[in-house]
Amino acid sequence: MASRFPVLADLFRVKTIAEITQASDLAAAENHGTGLKRALGSWDLMLLGVGAIIGAGILSALGTGLAGGYDSNVGYTRPGAGPALIVSFVLTAIACGFTALCYAELASMIPVSGSAYTYAYATLGELMAWIIGWDLLLEYAVSNVAVAISWGSYATGLLAAAGIVVPPWLATDPRTLLQLSEGYATNHPGISLGQKLAELARAKAGEIDGGAIFAHWDTLATTPIAFGFPVAVNLLAMFITIVITALCVWGVRESVRANNVLVALKVLLLVGVVIIGARHVDMANFHPFMPNGWRGVQAGAAIIFFAFIGFDAVSTTAEECKDPARDMPRGILGSLVICTILYIAVATVIAGMRKYTDYAGVADPIAHAFTAIGMNGVAAAVSIGAVIAIAAALLVYQLAQPRIFMVMSRDGLLPKWFGQVSPRFHTPVNATLFTGLVVVVPAGFMNIDEIVELTNIGTLFAFVLVCVGVLVLRVKQPNAQRKFKVPAVWLCGPLGIGFCTWLAAGLPPATWRRFWIWLAVGLVIYLFYGARQARQRRAAISQRQLDS
Ligand code: ALA
Repeated sequence: MASRFPVLADLFRVKTIAEITQASDLAAAENHGTGLKRALGSWDLMLLGVGAIIGAGILSALGTGLAGGYDSNVGYTRPGAGPALIVSFVLTAIACGFTALCYAELASMIPVSGSAYTYAYATLGELMAWIIGWDLLLEYAVSNVAVAISWGSYATGLLAAAGIVVPPWLATDPRTLLQLSEGYATNHPGISLGQKLAELARAKAGEIDGGAIFAHWDTLATTPIAFGFPVAVNLLAMFITIVITALCVWGVRESVRANNVLVALKVLLLVGVVIIGARHVDMANFHPFMPNGWRGVQAGAAIIFFAFIGFDAVSTTAEECKDPARDMPRGILGSLVICTILYIAVATVIAGMRKYTDYAGVADPIAHAFTAIGMNGVAAAVSIGAVIAIAAALLVYQLAQPRIFMVMSRDGLLPKWFGQVSPRFHTPVNATLFTGLVVVVPAGFMNIDEIVELTNIGTLFAFVLVCVGVLVLRVKQPNAQRKFKVPAVWLCGPLGIGFCTWLAAGLPPATWRRFWIWLAVGLVIYLFYGARQARQRRAAISQRQLDS
């Protein structure tokens, strides 16, 4: 009988490239020939990448990057880069560029849907593969929570402009709603959450004057209370997640067609912002250029990194492309280049339109820049564009996550249920619905800021391991066929590792703590479940090969 715990050899057991592709073929056979459709070409992949990259990040995080973190009660919580955010964009693009080269090499060598998870299995062994698979949950599913919340905020604003006012308790999460009462805490330093909630209950009962002690009392006054807590749910964020999940179940070809239209619209939006905004740039706004020195540039880069995440998501559709070895590198590198050019242009124009401090605490910095100069029509167009852009980003991540679950299930690290492909829609239906559930619940109840930072640290960790993976394979399998090779790999690989580590070092200590806890939980699941299942799956595959 297999022991409960993995033996050391299992932890570091590497899968050969042949084993990985065999498992992929076997899974297709198990699905009785109703596996994934090979429908995607280079352009589809590039547009898929652009769809994943341009989203909530450029439309929301730009303001925080420029002006720093700002809380209306406590002031600045993190340094802003000021106009030097342009430098942050360049440095982040360089970090992503080195990593994209590494992804491209691995994707051309191992064209299987699991992305960094599969590459880790082929280079660093089963334990690292599990850790990366677990970590990628942060990049795809958890980032999607942030993207859905961001969509909800823009949609709420647009509905309000059209005269439909969504009550705040149906448009935000409980934590953000409670922050609305922070004026109270400032007036009474050291007050506990329990005391605050008790006062809230008394004010709601009309025993004391809520308006005299709570900031934004008008909002809290209309919020229902359950068990002493304000009730709040972000309905629009949940709504968009459900719609996008349904689209992903329906079919990848259909989803990609929808994505291509959405991507064209958002590229047009950013190009429009640059062309119209450039005429309103005032050179005086570029002084001082670096108000908080390199610390500000690093903090800015660590935040706006969120805006670059997505080029790697292309690699999860490897089993659905016509010629992955040729098209993957084009899709990954092409999408990153297009977005980098657009981002640097947008950042330069937006930094030049207003003084950087003017963006403090602003969640829609691009629309804000145009409203501030009286161009309300352009600002409204930007908001409509934002709703479309963010929905497109959501689509790509909801496509990517189930494919990683699918490959992990194929390896036995997750139950077989995750790997089933629907004969009707040709999509991994169970994994897609599960991903929808994993995103929809927190989207309704969680705060966006913490989610963005957690996503960034998880993604940077995966990026570092992908760069390490390329170097390991160059040593262990120098003669393996590589349709794409990283140029000067012993320079680019270590530079990728160095830049990504520098970006992660710019994230706050609380984010690092949450990340270590996340990894520790993942490790426990692996030791008690994944390792044993993977061993049984391997035994079953060997048996099947002996039988046939
Ligand atoms: N890059 C993606 C976005 O900005 C995560 O929404």
